[in-house]
Amino acid sequence: MRVFSGIRPTGDIHIGNYLGAIKNWVNLQDKADCIFCIVDLHALTTPYKAKKLQKNIFDLAVTYLAAGLNPKRCIFFVQSQVKAHVELAWLLSTITPLGELQRMTQFKEKSTKHPESINAGLLNYPVLMAADILLYQTDIVPVGQDQKQHVELARTIARKFNQRFGKVFKEPKVQLQKIGAKIMSLQNPNKKMSKTDSPASYIGLFENPREIKQKIMAAMTDSGKEIIYNPSRKPGISNLLSIYSLFSGKTIKQIEKEFKGKGYAQFKKSLAQVLIKSLALFREKRKELLKNRTKVQKILENGAKKAQTIANSTMEQAKKRMGLN
Ligand code: TYM
Repeated sequence: MRVFSGIRPTGDIHIGNYLGAIKNWVNLQDKADCIFCIVDLHALTTPYKAKKLQKNIFDLAVTYLAAGLNPKRCIFFVQSQVKAHVELAWLLSTITPLGELQRMTQFKEKSTKHPESINAGLLNYPVLMAADILLYQTDIVPVGQDQKQHVELARTIARKFNQRFGKVFKEPKVQLQKIGAKIMSLQNPNKKMSKTDSPASYIGLFENPREIKQKIMAAMTDSGKEIIYNPSRKPGISNLLSIYSLFSGKTIKQIEKEFKGKGYAQFKKSLAQVLIKSLALFREKRKELLKNRTKVQKILENGAKKAQTIANSTMEQAKKRMGLN
């Protein structure tokens, strides 16, 4: 079974990215043939600083390693180092209906957020993402809820290509976590946690204990004082319960029982402790990795070589079917 997924190097990785995606990847690397990508070409579609891009790419590689990805058990690499991604994206764009791209939720959201830079790349983003996935004959794409629509489009594009030109691509399936697929903002629990929002709304994977405690204590909660899971009535507390459960390994029911009759403040203090303990491990590993930059670069180079071999083989087949060689 082949697994593929990726993250854009656009800034701090937060606990939403971890719980929705990376945590699941770490489990999958022992069970499947996994490929994880740092999708730098996707990062160019929203405003960014060219001078900071290489740093963000390197930081994301360190994050993958610190969070538990093991380069001996999975391939990981930087998207722009494997040219086939862009080449296949062009081929696939010629069979993707414009209307499908215009109705993508993320396109609509991002063009509203950055009205000054609605570029063609932002519209074509899901085609590049389809190319990422289809190049590796992927079976499963583990992502958060916000990427589900894009993976479904990749599936539609694969089917369309295969019907028109003959079978080349596997039709990938999305894999979402039961809880964790959509971690909400700490400041507005009706909105997803996002790395492009204010830092008070998310907890970065390497944040220090003081910041973690401050942000959790300030997190928005709901009226009433019971600690119960009910996302429509109590979105704030339900979000914090999900985070508690995923980091502690306890079920939501167990946590509700533990905090029966206790107030929000006590629950939040305990959650902050759980987070501080879990994230301390990541911070330590990161510190070690930052001392050995060459090792990280080498891992990325090796990953790109392995990815290239798989990608080129699919690329050749696709070109042939389309009459290009
Ligand atoms: P990106 O970089 O926005 O997010 C990376 C991963 O984190 C998940 N995620 C969340 N999960 C739970 N709660 C949240 N609040 C939350 N915020 C983000 C995302 O769903 C994602 O899994 N287009 C993709 C990157 C991409 C990709 C791919 C993914 C490019 N090519 C091919 C899979 C396969 C993106 O922008 O993710």
